[in-house]
Amino acid sequence: MNNKIGVFDSGKGGLTTLKEIKKILPNEDYIYYADSKNNPYGNKTDEALYNIVKEVVDKLISKEVKLIVIACNTATTKCIEKLRQDYPNMLFVGTEPAIKVACDNNYKNTLVLATPGTIGSERTHELVKKNKKDEQNIILLPCEGLAEAIENSDEVKINKLLDKYLKEYENKNIDSVVLGCTHYPIISDKLKVYFRNSDLIDGNIGVANRVKYILETNNLLTDKKENGTIEFIISKKD
Ligand code: DGL
Repeated sequence: MNNKIGVFDSGKGGLTTLKEIKKILPNEDYIYYADSKNNPYGNKTDEALYNIVKEVVDKLISKEVKLIVIACNTATTKCIEKLRQDYPNMLFVGTEPAIKVACDNNYKNTLVLATPGTIGSERTHELVKKNKKDEQNIILLPCEGLAEAIENSDEVKINKLLDKYLKEYENKNIDSVVLGCTHYPIISDKLKVYFRNSDLIDGNIGVANRVKYILETNNLLTDKKENGTIEFIISKKD
């Protein structure tokens, strides 16, 4: 019986998502696929990214998962619709920039940080259109190279990129910063330095709640009482 939850990202970013899911579903068994070989996802064409993601999904399905969490905003905003069409029997939960959360909480000036792929996706623009009220201001900021620098733990590059992208917003009354890439919560301390008076928002808790809801409504929650396991698969660059 398929009894595991598959979670994937272009590397370690999705671990921030897995952590939240594990908090509310501790007894489930997980397979985490870190597709470091293909990092970054954020600068791939739609077609190239879909082919990469399809390979990961096939691998997870061969491991008999009952649900797949796309713990990556880029892969979600660009691929989830087609995945649902191509795999009608698989349950998918995606990760999107938490623009709705920022709008619903009435922040006035929201800065959305994400990969160029996510920022350029139709879905992100749809989220703004659907949720933004007239008096709200939403700035979409593509952070080319940042997810890759975080994946490589390249502190010098991370610091340089943060200065390049964020300096000009430091004193602009930004009251919320949406972390629209699952790699970004890893550097939330560094982000806080630029935005001391802003709230950092990520969608991971929402994703975790959604996973629980989908499993519940499909009668797929595990009945195990003991703590679940996590299996890791890591693809590496040649
Ligand atoms: N964690 C991925 C995301 O949420 C990073 C994408 C990338 O590899 O560029 O978008």
